Amino acid sequence: MSRFYLTTPLYYVNAPPHLGHTYTTVVADVIARYRRMAGDDVCLLTGTDEHGQKIERAAREQQMQPQEWADRVAEEYKRAWTQLHISYDEFIRTTEPRHLRAASKIFQLVQDNGHIYLGKYSGWYCVFDEAFVPETREEQPLCPDCGRPTEFITEDSYFFRLSSFQGPLLDLYRQNPTFVLPPSRMNEIVSFVKGGLKDLSVSRTSFRWGIPVPTDAHHIIYVWFDALTGYLSGLGFGGDERRVRKYWPAQVQLVGKDILRFHAVYWPAFLMAAGLEPPCQILAHGWWMVEGQKMSKSRGNVIEPFRFIEAASSDSLRYFLVREIPLGADGNFSVDAFLLRANSDLANDLGNLVSRILKMVATYFAHRVPAATERDPSDGALQAKAERTLAEWRKHFDAFALSRGLETVWELVGEVNRYLVLHEPWQLARDESKRSRLAAVLYTAAEALRFLAVLLAPVVPQAAQRLWSQLGCSGSVHGFKMQELAWGKLQPESLVSIGEALFPRLDREKFIEKAGMEKPKSEAAAPEPSAPQPGKGDASLEKLIGIDDFARVKMQVGEILEAEWVPGSSKLIKLQVDIGTEQRQVVGGFGRRYGPEQLLRKKVVVVTNLKPATLMGVESNGMIVAATVNGEPVLVTFTEEVPNGASLK
Ligand code: MSP
Repeated sequence: MSRFYLTTPLYYVNAPPHLGHTYTTVVADVIARYRRMAGDDVCLLTGTDEHGQKIERAAREQQMQPQEWADRVAEEYKRAWTQLHISYDEFIRTTEPRHLRAASKIFQLVQDNGHIYLGKYSGWYCVFDEAFVPETREEQPLCPDCGRPTEFITEDSYFFRLSSFQGPLLDLYRQNPTFVLPPSRMNEIVSFVKGGLKDLSVSRTSFRWGIPVPTDAHHIIYVWFDALTGYLSGLGFGGDERRVRKYWPAQVQLVGKDILRFHAVYWPAFLMAAGLEPPCQILAHGWWMVEGQKMSKSRGNVIEPFRFIEAASSDSLRYFLVREIPLGADGNFSVDAFLLRANSDLANDLGNLVSRILKMVATYFAHRVPAATERDPSDGALQAKAERTLAEWRKHFDAFALSRGLETVWELVGEVNRYLVLHEPWQLARDESKRSRLAAVLYTAAEALRFLAVLLAPVVPQAAQRLWSQLGCSGSVHGFKMQELAWGKLQPESLVSIGEALFPRLDREKFIEKAGMEKPKSEAAAPEPSAPQPGKGDASLEKLIGIDDFARVKMQVGEILEAEWVPGSSKLIKLQVDIGTEQRQVVGGFGRRYGPEQLLRKKVVVVTNLKPATLMGVESNGMIVAATVNGEPVLVTFTEEVPNGASLK
């Protein structure tokens, strides 16, 4: 039995999961389920990346502590993966003590081996991607990955001697030419490394939300160094290391193409520097796009999995994601592309086939699988097709060509459909003298369904199990070993049961409404005559809010009477604000730009009907409105005298 360690990236907890994250995780789950059925001892790890400025800021925007916020979003990830039937063996959160222990140990190993030194770093930094942008002559460049403004940072920093790993990395790629898949991405990585590597800043002093450098607590370990070590901490590195010895190096680490460099260059270099083995393979997939743009929270074009699953099913979403795009390529998400797969492939081709065959067995043979005594050459042809499909499916799935593998499976679905049309069992049933021929046809068709249940199990686990049980097969299809899938093993006399449709047809309008999807722009309802007209290129109407929505936010003029630091924080300031009718305590993250004295007597805008929140143990009853400029707050104030308590509209 070979061991097979497979990982997804650890997802940032700045926001709940969307279809992009769902894709990475579903693909990993399909591979894991497939390998288990191939007899491997699989460990599938997923988890969340919870440190860094990005998370700190997301929490602050919600007026929450980073840990509290991370707890909430990590739960959302777990909830999504449960609903999608992701069979993970390990979920690691980078704020868990076991991770802190492992990350510190790996950093220490790299340092003890002489690969880390103290220096100074200046450069343009993208907080969103937690990465410095490549050197440029531009004044405040935009981040090349996400397009956001960057910030200039100069700080003491520990550096990792990445430059000295150019040779070892190129050796690794030479010895293992499929270290990165697909091959085009391998070439990209090789040329990047050949182009020369600069030492990498691996610590920060500008924020605190992270793991301290073991020998210098003033520094926080770079969030990518921290997160990558999660692949080992999840196995118990630095604690009980039995599973590390068993599963490391990972067979496959699945990542999106946007984070390939971190995994194919930095990660193996960190590992080599720590005296640990690099992973065997990094598999890079493409992106889901919406109308030509990458689906991402920052672009506001995300689709969340929860309502989608409710409106369709987790299996149909899984099937669509895996079938629609070849691994490595980008794909465009659209409701119609999904509905086509759900209704045509799943409800029509597969679902109808299953229900027809099961119903005929039920009607003509009292729910018992008949024995095939009178065989015909075309039965043998269908058997041969099923056996060939099994072999091809395995070849494709072994090579991670999951979409191609499913195509092969659907060729078999088509073949079984044609087989029924050819033999017309419903006609055979009218003639008592053809009863044994009818038995052979239905046995053959049902046996093909058993093959299909196995071939479909990794992708549509729920439906495959139902089909398996409906055919009267015992136990779990997921525990079945594909090596044992041999034609003719379906037991005559097995009790067949008929249930609800495997994949009910989805009505387009109802689906769109239930899933909370936006209609394609061309179909969006015309605006009310009185409503403001969106300008050309504006977001669709559903994104605009009505005046009533706006009126729910109560904003008033306030005057800051007192201001002091929240103890232990370099950013939070506690304010006493006069809002006309009362004095309010409000906590705000203004320390990045203002000291308490600069805030005194300022007239500000206060949101006064927010639920109270507790920030570092101090209660806050409201929020002061500010613009964010280069990551710093700039207070909104007035150019004329205004009385405290005046309402804003
Ligand atoms: N936290 C880092 C990974 C650290 S791994 C030690 C991170 N997180 S992420 O949440 O931003 O992204 C995680 C994964 O989701 C990546 O593999 C990324 O490619 C994938 N996707 C995010 N948006 C996507 C699409 N629109 N389409 C497909 N996958 C994309 O990066």
